[in-house]
Amino acid sequence: MCGITGYIGRNEAAEVILEGLHALEYRGYDSAGIAAFENGGISVLKSVGKVAALEEKLAAHGNFAGAHCGIGHTRWATHGAPSDINSHPHGNERIQIVHNGIIENYAPLRAMLIEKGYDFVSETDTEVAAKLIDLRYGESGDPLDALAAAMREIVGSYAIGVLFADYPDKLFAIKKDNPLIVGVGEGENFIASDIAAVLRHTKNYYQLGDLEMAVISASSVQIMDIDKRPLHPELQTATWSIEAAERGGYPHFMIKEINEEPSAVEKTLHPRIAGMLPDFSGEKLSDERLRSAKSVTFVACGTAMHAGLVGKAAIESLCRVPVKVEIASEFRYNNPILTPDDLVIIISQSGETADSLAALRLAKSLGAYTLGIVNVIGSTIAREADNVIYTWAGPEISVASTKAYTVQISLIYLLTIRMALLRGNISEAEARAYTETLYREMPEIIRKTIATEADIKAAALKFADYEDLFFIGRGVDYYLSMEGSLKLKEISYIHSEAYAAGELKHGTISLITEQMPVVALATDEALYEKMISNIREVKARGAKVLLVTREGAKDAAAEAECVLYIPPCDPFFAAIPLATVLQLFAYHVAAARGCDIDKPRNLAKSVTVE
Ligand code: F6R
Repeated sequence: MCGITGYIGRNEAAEVILEGLHALEYRGYDSAGIAAFENGGISVLKSVGKVAALEEKLAAHGNFAGAHCGIGHTRWATHGAPSDINSHPHGNERIQIVHNGIIENYAPLRAMLIEKGYDFVSETDTEVAAKLIDLRYGESGDPLDALAAAMREIVGSYAIGVLFADYPDKLFAIKKDNPLIVGVGEGENFIASDIAAVLRHTKNYYQLGDLEMAVISASSVQIMDIDKRPLHPELQTATWSIEAAERGGYPHFMIKEINEEPSAVEKTLHPRIAGMLPDFSGEKLSDERLRSAKSVTFVACGTAMHAGLVGKAAIESLCRVPVKVEIASEFRYNNPILTPDDLVIIISQSGETADSLAALRLAKSLGAYTLGIVNVIGSTIAREADNVIYTWAGPEISVASTKAYTVQISLIYLLTIRMALLRGNISEAEARAYTETLYREMPEIIRKTIATEADIKAAALKFADYEDLFFIGRGVDYYLSMEGSLKLKEISYIHSEAYAAGELKHGTISLITEQMPVVALATDEALYEKMISNIREVKARGAKVLLVTREGAKDAAAEAECVLYIPPCDPFFAAIPLATVLQLFAYHVAAARGCDIDKPRNLAKSVTVE
């Protein structure tokens, strides 16, 4: 959570930093701040609200004109409510810092610092880190010794950018368990939570490792370990273009990203298919692992966890291997039973989600083989998992995950086919047929689904004025109900629940009235009649029903006020177009309600706190 950036070079620091903060707003946007060298000292400006509010304040202050070195921050509050005072940077006239992460031992450190005579103005853990660095700097007189000492004392996670007033031509950075890159330009350098913040200026960057420090001037970057020993990491080059990270003419990133789903699925599947069979040799994922796994456990959060549920249905039905799906934040409390024969798959778009990372580390410590399905290249989960399969979805900027989910489930289907073939559950001809359908047909099916957007929007308008809503389904449709419900509530703020259709009558049906519309998902032909019975039950209690089903479903129009169809497709992969329908439905409901679709309240794209 939180985005940090910093700049040193010939350009106006405030301008470059603001641009970076806008690109990082997906990480948090309840307040923002900036510090830069000005008139022989460090000037600081902060503002509650989005980066635009800081921008206005800064303009009134003259944009720190002439400053060529500074740091900036966009915040997602953990310690202390969003306010001007709690916004970063924090520090004093000698040092200012911006921080992403959590200082777990901030209370004893704060008490120690108060004893040493420090005052605190904010409620944040970051101010404690700032003053700790200041204390150690006062003692040693050396910025690197001060940063190393702070790293030894702080328990928790952090990516921190630092300005020392005594070093106006340098930027400093330290990191543990939170992402931080050093962008390398010509005569200018950067720090940032991720490469999207600096893509306009450079595609070249170093990834800072845990317990490492960086000293950055306009013309040099030095990276070292906590003992000040120089390190020489490989210079990486981002493959994402700026255009890919921008809206490309769409009103919101969310709708742009939904429209990117067909090509994202193609890009993700293509490199893993050889002779029209799944082939993960590029990832060095050994066949033996897939053949001999005694169980599979998906661990993830939110939408990524819902992708795991679709994976469970696919693997259990095709491979007959037991699959569990665990909410990452609950994983450790369930005292997991794992052995080296168990495969644990961590699904994460960002690759930085703290709960998923903690679950990955626990699974590894228990001896399980861990596989990451991750979108962001070089992210922590990608680096720490025993193996990683990247989803090539490109940058996902909208907080609500859409294309990442679609590529996650597509990739899991491909993995399922490989596993089923290796274990002898299906023949090579069957595996080839499944692969061909997935790869050749599904991108087109998504395009056809997107082509029905006008119908989906018309349906959305009929439901946009309700304050509560239920999604119901059976089997995979139930798992998609969970995802449709999450998508709707997070961006439209409509209270929504997902329920297994058959479970409704065991209590919850008491909530069904004419004020409680129901979205019924019934794409599985085998379960259709049962779903129709459930629809009749809720209609009899006054609920208005939107039915989402396959084309040609019997009497669909007679059973519900409103019907949407997924295009004809192989039922095994029906979750793919159904997801797109539900994403477009949520999008148009939220748009009709005038919501801030790409940046819903209280949320952040990358959740790096537990
Ligand atoms: C919902 C959403 C979240 C994420 C979750 C996990 O639209 O985006 O529920 O899916 O926070 O994030 P990643 O995939 O980055 O680990």
